[in-house]
Amino acid sequence: MIGKKVIFLNETESTNKAAYDLIIKEKLPEGTVITAGYQSSGKGRGANSWESAKNKNLLLSVVLYPEFLEITQQFFLSKTIALGISDFLDQFIPDVAIKWPNDIYVSNKKICGTLIEQAISGKKIQHSIIGIGININQVRFHKNTILPTSLKKITGIDYDLSACLNLLCICLNNRCNQLKAKKFVEIDKAYDARLYRKEEGAFYKSGKKVFEAIVKGVGTDGCLILKTKDGIETKYAIDQLEFIL
Ligand code: BTN
Repeated sequence: MIGKKVIFLNETESTNKAAYDLIIKEKLPEGTVITAGYQSSGKGRGANSWESAKNKNLLLSVVLYPEFLEITQQFFLSKTIALGISDFLDQFIPDVAIKWPNDIYVSNKKICGTLIEQAISGKKIQHSIIGIGININQVRFHKNTILPTSLKKITGIDYDLSACLNLLCICLNNRCNQLKAKKFVEIDKAYDARLYRKEEGAFYKSGKKVFEAIVKGVGTDGCLILKTKDGIETKYAIDQLEFIL
């Protein structure tokens, strides 16, 4: 159960790293949450870092052992987590969208990023460390490369972080139970309904080429399917495509 065991750290390099260091020493219970007030080296996807002011936001890593999922189904975990976070944010704000693969956006601005790091052995996922950063009470951000926003920036309200963490764990748990019950069709439908820019024309960059396209959906392999004006559909992996915002 997500959040039954919570490890609070005032400060750490990265909650994903702290979770990994603990896992290799002892098998933490499924659903253990490692959360911190501050990360000195918060990791983003790729070479990015994750900015978060001290004690202003939710910074956590959830440890899961999704042995019931085949490697080919691993993108369902990403979808499930994005849906759980969206369900949480729905309690406070409207227009929460999932920007492929699993960023959460509100009005073209990023409110949450997720970094899933996993160990795979044979055809099975041994463990997944699901790192989640949700901007809650921070209103000034330094690096403006990704147009950040937060709950407080949107509503003007200051939120209780521990109540937010409890609610987030409930929302993640509900969606993970849906995944464990193999409700793949329902998960796909819910993810698709929230997909940022679905059926909307917008600009993208792949290699040196900038082009206009429509988001058609996400393949079972987790690739994004874009359709250009000439009617051609092309699949993109995460490192092949940039959204022009
Ligand atoms: C991204 O959008 O680039 C992913 C950001 C993920 C940030 C979270 S914050 C908690 C966890 N620990 C980390 O070092 N990163 C993730």
